[in-house]
Amino acid sequence: MAVPASVMELTERIMELKRERNAVILAHNYQRPEVQDVADVLGDSLALARAAARTDAQVIVFCGVHFMAETAALLNPGKTVLLPDLEAGCSLADSITAEQLRAWKAEHPGAVVVAYVNTSAEVKAESDYCCTSSNAVEVVASIPEDREILFLPDMFLGSYVQRVTGRRMHIWMGECHVHAGIRPTDVQSVLRSHPDAELLVHPECGCSTSNLYLAAEGMLPQERTRILSTGGMLKHADESPAKEFVVATETGILHQMQRRHPDKRFIPANPDAVCPFMKRITLEKVYEALRDGRHVIQVPEEIAARARVAIERMIQIG
Ligand code: 13P
Ligand code: SF4
Repeated sequence: MAVPASVMELTERIMELKRERNAVILAHNYQRPEVQDVADVLGDSLALARAAARTDAQVIVFCGVHFMAETAALLNPGKTVLLPDLEAGCSLADSITAEQLRAWKAEHPGAVVVAYVNTSAEVKAESDYCCTSSNAVEVVASIPEDREILFLPDMFLGSYVQRVTGRRMHIWMGECHVHAGIRPTDVQSVLRSHPDAELLVHPECGCSTSNLYLAAEGMLPQERTRILSTGGMLKHADESPAKEFVVATETGILHQMQRRHPDKRFIPANPDAVCPFMKRITLEKVYEALRDGRHVIQVPEEIAARARVAIERMIQIG
C-alpha cells in the first residue's frame, strides 16, 4: 500500500491509525522535528520510561532507539511495543556486552553494578541499578558508602557522577560517539561569540567533566553552566530569564526549545552533533509501523524478569 506523500497527509493518517490501534507515540527529544510533532509524550529517557510504565494504550510506538523500546517492552509485558526502524541502535549501548560485564563483575565480587539506561536488556539483567542522566547522581548517592561500585558504560557520565558525589567508582571506558565529539574547545569558542549565554551540557559529552573543572576554576561562568539531562535542559530553558543558551548535546533538542521559546536563542555547541540512530526514525516509518504493526520488540522473560528489577529501581529514584 502506498505511503501518503506530504507531511500533513502522513500526520493525519498517523493520528487516525493511532486511534484505531489504541496506540500511544513516545518520542525522545533527539527525534526529527516532524516526528516530535506527532508524539503524545516527548521526553528524556527517564520521562519516556515512566510514560511507558503508566500508559493505558495497547500499542506503544517508540520513536527513539532500540534500548529505549526494550525498556518500554520490559515494563509492559502484555502490550505491543513497536520500533519503526530496527537499525536505530546506540553506539554507547554497544560498548559493553553482557559477557564483558560478567567478566568485570568476576574481577570485583560483591560490587554494586550501576548501568546507565543506554544498555541492552541483557546488560541490565546483570545490573543492580539502572540510571539515566537525570537521576545518575541520586542513584549512586543512594548506595551505602562502604560498597564498591561498577559504573557503566559511559565514562563521561561516570566521571561526572564521581565528581559530584565524591564516590570512587570503577568506570567502564565506553562513550557515545555523538557526545564525545562535543569538545571543550567547541564550547569555549561558541561561548566567546555569545558571552552572555547560559551553557547547558549533557553529562555524556566529552566536554562535561572538563566543563565542571573549568567552571570550578572560574574559566567558565560557573553560575551560568548547567549539566543536565535533555529533559532538564528543556525545563531550565523554560524557567531561566536568560535570552541565549549554548546547548551541548544532540541538536534534535533545539526544535523543542525553539518551539517553546521563539523569543529566546539556542545555539548548538557543535552543529554536527547529530545522532544517526535517532534520525533513522522518519514519519513514513512511524506510519508504516502503525499500519503494519512492525517492528515488535520483545525481551525473553528470563532476561526481562532480572532487568526489570534494575529498571524499577531507576524509575523510583530521582
Ligand atoms: P537523556 O536521558 O538525557 O534524554 O539522554 C539519552 C541519550 O541517549 C543521550 O544520548
Ligand atoms: Fe546513543 Fe549517543 Fe545516539 Fe544517545 S546520542 S542514542 S547515546 S548514539
